[in-house]
Amino acid sequence: MIDSRMAAVMNFVREGNRVADIGADHGYLAIELIKSGRASKVIATEKNIGPFEILGKNISDSGFENFIEVRLGDGLKILSAGEVDTICIAGMGGALIAKILDDAPEVVQAARQVIIQPMNVAKKIREWLTENNWTIVDEDLAESTGIIYEIICAEKNSPKKIFKRESSPLSKKFLTQRLEKLQRVLAEMSKSESARTSEKFSATLAEISAISCKLSAVS
Ligand SMILES: C[S@@+](CC[C@H](N)C(=O)[O-])C[C@H]1O[C@@H](n2cnc3c(N)ncnc32)[C@H](O)[C@@H]1O
Repeated sequence: MIDSRMAAVMNFVREGNRVADIGADHGYLAIELIKSGRASKVIATEKNIGPFEILGKNISDSGFENFIEVRLGDGLKILSAGEVDTICIAGMGGALIAKILDDAPEVVQAARQVIIQPMNVAKKIREWLTENNWTIVDEDLAESTGIIYEIICAEKNSPKKIFKRESSPLSKKFLTQRLEKLQRVLAEMSKSESARTSEKFSATLAEISAISCKLSAVS
């Protein structure tokens, strides 16, 4: 029922945890978390009424209403501190995810695990987690309908592991796609004098160089 992107999110959830799935939409992750026995309870939330109604119906059809609670509202603001151990936020832009985390500091602080699958600016999420005293303990890559997604898992007081993504068969493909994208961005910026002297230009060059090094190490 769930694709490899959602399976990668689910695989990071610690056994038996109480999970919040923020922006649950169809609710497939919540259902699979309970069906597989990985989570003991899920709070599945939606901000928008359309997806919320579908979510409610899918949870009711699954027969897991006793284990999955659905809530309508904005991000983590509709949770109380200590209600969940794991926070999952998948399928949203990095800036929105960072805002959702920023808007509910007590709920985030009381959790023990945060699993994020951003649709863009994954770097922003890594910075947010580090600045807020979370340790990124692992990362993974998952391919679904031709797109490679990044999944980031952070915990409190856990040692950093060797990243799953580094041994992932998708690693080289992901780096190659990212390098090609950055090279297109750099070529576009090179056309303008002001863009060539910008911070973004230097950052893009630095990332191209870092990715090229990584790629030559895996080739
Ligand atoms: C693209 S869907 C991703 C659904 C699912 N998490 C997944 O990964 O397949 C994003 C969902 O987040 C919901 N959403 C957007 N902003 C939200 C917020 N601040 N709080 C809760 N849900 C939100 C949207 O209504 C939408 O259903």
